[in-house]
This record gives sequence, structure tokens and C-alpha cells, in this order.
Amino acid sequence: MTRAISLHDVSKVYAKGVRVVDRLTLDIAPGEFLVLLGPSGCGKSTVLRMIAGLEDITDGSLLLDGEWANDLPPSGRDMAMVFQNFALYPSMTSGDNIGFPLRIENPGADPRDRVDATARMLGIEDLLDRYPSQLSGGERQRVAMGRAIARHPSAFLMDEPLSNLDAKLRNHLRAEISKLTRELGVTTVYVTHDQSEAMSLGDRVAVLRGGVLQQVGTPREVYGLPRNVFVAAFVGTPRINLLRGLVRAPLDGAMTISLGKQYLRLPEPLSLDHQLLRVQQGREVIVGLRSEAVRIAKHSSARPGEVPLTGLVEHVEYQGHEILVHFNTGSRPAVVPDLEAPRPAARPARRRRREGTVIDRLRERAGALRAGPVVVLDEPADEPPAPAPATPRIPGDLVVRTTPDIDLRHGMQVPLLVDLAHLFVFDQHGERICPNPAHLPDLEE
Ligand SMILES: Nc1ncnc2c1ncn2[C@@H]1O[C@H](COP(=O)(O)OP(=O)(O)O)[C@@H](O)[C@H]1O
Ligand SMILES: [Mg+2]
Repeated sequence: MTRAISLHDVSKVYAKGVRVVDRLTLDIAPGEFLVLLGPSGCGKSTVLRMIAGLEDITDGSLLLDGEWANDLPPSGRDMAMVFQNFALYPSMTSGDNIGFPLRIENPGADPRDRVDATARMLGIEDLLDRYPSQLSGGERQRVAMGRAIARHPSAFLMDEPLSNLDAKLRNHLRAEISKLTRELGVTTVYVTHDQSEAMSLGDRVAVLRGGVLQQVGTPREVYGLPRNVFVAAFVGTPRINLLRGLVRAPLDGAMTISLGKQYLRLPEPLSLDHQLLRVQQGREVIVGLRSEAVRIAKHSSARPGEVPLTGLVEHVEYQGHEILVHFNTGSRPAVVPDLEAPRPAARPARRRRREGTVIDRLRERAGALRAGPVVVLDEPADEPPAPAPATPRIPGDLVVRTTPDIDLRHGMQVPLLVDLAHLFVFDQHGERICPNPAHLPDLEE
């Protein structure tokens, strides 16, 4: 059995009025693998614990298979949780650890068959007689997983189950979790702060920031059509380049986005998305360029839709299969707060505005306005750059990925081509305006 989990306008307010989850609405389909992704402190565990019944829901409703479940005790929810610190009983063998919940549920019955079947599924038959202290981290996590699976729960709730493991093992177990949950067809809610884990595991990914849902969609959707600067910057490696730009749309000339010392000239005839940028004339925007949007190539080799830029090599990061080149293009990066940091100090809860324009409602839905600005543009674009931050940072405003065979050195001037088909533009609030927000995947359904 697997189940649908729905959260409607769910909030969590801790003592002293701290709102750590703010009107979260999310429908998780039976059998779906949904990942809750966000920086540390954004409320992911709190959401998971509310689904599990380990935490009261302050406001809103939780439905399990369409039935109101806010007050259902954890034991009545038929869900299994797997935590980061796999809490096995040290005085029990692996087999007894796996069988323990079965014994509690069904005191008279012998759980051995179930335990054996589970162990076979996880490839840990040989470990059943060992105690947790005789197991490696990865083995312990497999046993913890076994304990969750053996009960045949109707949903798995996993809270950063792999964070304590080393990278190689993490990748390996990631693949196992994916295979296993899909084979079992059990609804899984998986919490992580690791975007690559989220992207590789999730049927859909829900991105949280400061307790507010920013976007939910398939990994492809959140990567390809991020709703705002925060999602764009949180998802994808290397991190998207975010440059401060200024839209210039003279009536009698080509439309450009100035990047400080250089500009992107939008090709004529303007695409529909670019036409919509005209209303931003004279305004500061944020230009988002993922690494696939920029390549190192002679300007004369530009393909249709590509426009030239020039970059000064500041730093070359050798990665083996590729290199990351940090260029100075004379533009200024936009600062996206709380990408890694804990959530900002609590703000007083605002009532939802029922009326307002369609755009207001879309914004409200996007949730971006409720958790504070997703981007900081404190100084006007034409002023000199702010002094460098105290923490040492690699200089350069544009990171481009390239094959390792190109020989690039500090100080070289290099021709770049920007593919405008991959151009993102965000407004001053950090909301995506290009491609047109009407491309929001879940509004098109
Ligand atoms: N019992 C509590 N009382 C007050 N604040 C809490 C409590 N538990 C968690 N918080 C706060 O709620 C916020 C979200 O926590 P959490 O859900 O654990 O975040 P995440 O799992 O995303 O790291 C954090 O700021 C955390 O300090
Ligand atoms: Mg957590």
C-alpha cells in the first residue's frame, strides 16, 4: 500500500512566534519520490516531522489519502522514518534491529522471514548477526533502511539519511535508495540540502527557503525554468552566474542588456521573451547564465542566437575531466542571501492578501515575497563596485566550463559567446522575467 500525502497551507510556529514553515501547500502522489530541498534551517525537517506526526501542525491541514490527519498519532500513520544519525539499538544485532518494529507491531509473530527477505533486498544477509559497533557507516545505514522497509510502511520519510557518509558511499546508497523505493512503489519524502542528491533522486523537487515553498517541479523544470534567483542559484553546479545588468531599449536602436563594461545585444527580430523585456527599460535586472550558456570561441564562429563577450582570465580551476575558468567581464555579481546560511531572523507573519492583481497572486503563489528578498541590490548599477568582502573570494564574475585541453592562463583576454537561448533574466525582486514567467510549468497543466 502506498499513500497520497497532501499539505494545505501548513504552517509551523514555535514558541515566541517564530514561523519556521509558512503556508506550505504540496500534493504528493501515491508512489511519488518527492525531495524537499533547501539550505540548512529552512524548515525541511520540521515539514517531515509534521508529516510523521512528531510535530504539531500550527495551522493548515495534512491529508493522508484525502483524510484529515492532523491529529492522527504517529503510530496510526503507517510511515517509516530514516534519519541522518541512523539510531540503531547498540545492544541488538542487525537482525534484531530490523525485526524490532515488527515485534512491537505484532508481538506474537516471528519476524524472521520478513527480516531475511529485507536483508536479501539490501544485500546485507551476512550482517544480520553483527552488532552496530561491528558495522561500517554505510552498513549501519543499510540496516537502518532495512528496519524502515521491513515494516512495509505506506510511506518513507527520510531526513538527510546519507549526510554522515563519505562521498563515494553516498553516491552508491543514493542509487540503492532510488532503486529500492521505486521497486517498492512506496511514497517517499526525502529531505536534503544537497541539490545534486535532490536532482538525481526526485521525481519532483520542492525547493524551500526560509520556510516558504519557492517552487516545486521535476528536476528538469526547476533547473530549466527556475521561478526566481534563489532557485536558479540553489540548483545546478557550477552555480549559475548572476550578473547585474541594465536593460536599454531605445525606440530606434537595438535592445541591449548592459553588464557594466560590456553588453549583450539582443538579436533582431526580438524573440517573444526578449520583447517582454522592453518594459524593463532603464531598470536594473539580474542576468543568469548557466555554464552551458557561455562557451569559449572566436566571435566569428558565432551561431545564430549567440552574442559576443570578452573575458579576462582570473583563475583556472582544474577538475580533471573539465576546467572551470573564472573570467572578469567587468560586470558585478548579484548577491543572493541565505543560499547556505540559516534562515534570516523571523519576520512577523503577514496575512495573505485575498484580493490583488493576477500578478500579485502569481507572486503570492511563487512565495518569493513572503520570505524576504531573494536578491540584494543595494547600490545602483552605475556606481563603482563595493569593496571586496572580507572573506577571500576568487575574483571573476563569470565562471565558464570547458574541456581540459584548452590552455588558459591568468591575464589572457578570451573571446566568449553567450547563447541567448539559455539566457535567464530576473527582476529586482529576483523573480524570473525571461523566459516569460507564463512558462511556469505547473500553471500550464
Ligand atoms: N523546537 C524548536 N523550537 C524553536 N525553533 C525550532 C525548533 N526546532 C527547530 N527550530 C527552528 O526551526 C527552523 C527550521 O528547522 P529545521 O526544520 O530543523 O530546518 P532544516 O531541517 O531545514 O535544517 C530553524 O531555524 C530551527 O532553529
Ligand atoms: Mg534538518
